[in-house]
Amino acid sequence: MSTHSTPVPQAIDAPLTRAATFLVLVLEDGPGPLAAVREALGGMEDLLKTVGFRSPGGRLSCTVGIGARVWTALTGRRLPRELHPFREIAGARHTAPATPGDVLLHIRADRADLCYEVERLLLAQLDGQVTTADETTGFRYFDARDLLGFVDGTANPIGPDLPEATLVGEEDPEFAGGSYVVVQKYTHPLAAWEALNTQQQEQILGRRKFDNVELPDAETGQKSHKTLATIEDADGEHDILRDNMPFARPAAGEYGTYFIGFTRRLWVLERMLERMFIGDPPGLHDRLLDFSTARTGSTFFAPSAELLASLGDEPEPDSSLLSRRAAPPPPRPSARSGTGGTAG
Ligand code: HEM
Repeated sequence: MSTHSTPVPQAIDAPLTRAATFLVLVLEDGPGPLAAVREALGGMEDLLKTVGFRSPGGRLSCTVGIGARVWTALTGRRLPRELHPFREIAGARHTAPATPGDVLLHIRADRADLCYEVERLLLAQLDGQVTTADETTGFRYFDARDLLGFVDGTANPIGPDLPEATLVGEEDPEFAGGSYVVVQKYTHPLAAWEALNTQQQEQILGRRKFDNVELPDAETGQKSHKTLATIEDADGEHDILRDNMPFARPAAGEYGTYFIGFTRRLWVLERMLERMFIGDPPGLHDRLLDFSTARTGSTFFAPSAELLASLGDEPEPDSSLLSRRAAPPPPRPSARSGTGGTAG
């Protein structure tokens, strides 16, 4: 992909921060909420300056994703080629549920107060226009580990591989510089996980716990998480970018991982989910799911920074373009030629 003609993306490639807030909003019906959300999203750059300037070096960023239901009404444009609502995946043992979400705010900084301030000001601006489907405040845990104790994010693409894996290019020029985003909130029964020995845990994840070294892929039988999440086809291996964050309320017994994945090709991430929940071969699901319950699931498109900034300038939104809230997601297309497979 040639990047020099590509519109500037949002801060999708921002490095891992110490704090993050994930906010999933649903718009109230009618033209008022549409206009208010357009203005707020179009003004995001200014809001980040207002808050971020007070703490230079705080690495504040906010990536905005917009869901299929409101995409056309908010942007006045057709849907990006692959954008559709999250489709539930029901495996024999575990289900990835689809839950409501029109707008995603992925607020990141090295200080929790910066994330809080952006969220506070934004929600004040949108008061009465949106409901909050989910609000999760995450933190970075030692060595970028998840709460299961494993280093999380190692196989993320870096350098030129990062835009190649995450940013839409010439295949959908109107939306070049944008990225598909999927979020899922998982909770872990930590005591059950801790009842496994380290070797059993390592076999489930596919990496050594202490030093993060990758384990060989199983050729047959039960595959590890890392193997099931590896997607290969004739074009090679397809990476996604993950910026997962732990969250917890120990007194309430809540321990979790907020999964967020960015991809240029939504089908790649969906194929990973199918391999995890249905299994490869079907029936041999990802054993990580025996210790991780998906509570939410929503899909968005994070447009380029330019497209996002232009939202405030667009003419009055047409609320008749809003898809009905209860509209069922489109049927799942037949299986892609991409298969999963070998070591990442
Ligand atoms: C409870 C939720 C999850 C946890 C705790 C988790 C944890 C991990 C860990 C520890 C690794 C190994 C180190 C690394 O490369 O990051 C990993 C790898 C990976 N995970 Fe997850 N993960 C979760 C959910 C997901 C989901 C939902 C997807 C995709 C839809 C996914 C995709 C991947 C990919 C692509 C890799 C790298 C595979 C490779 O080595 O090429 N993960 N994950």
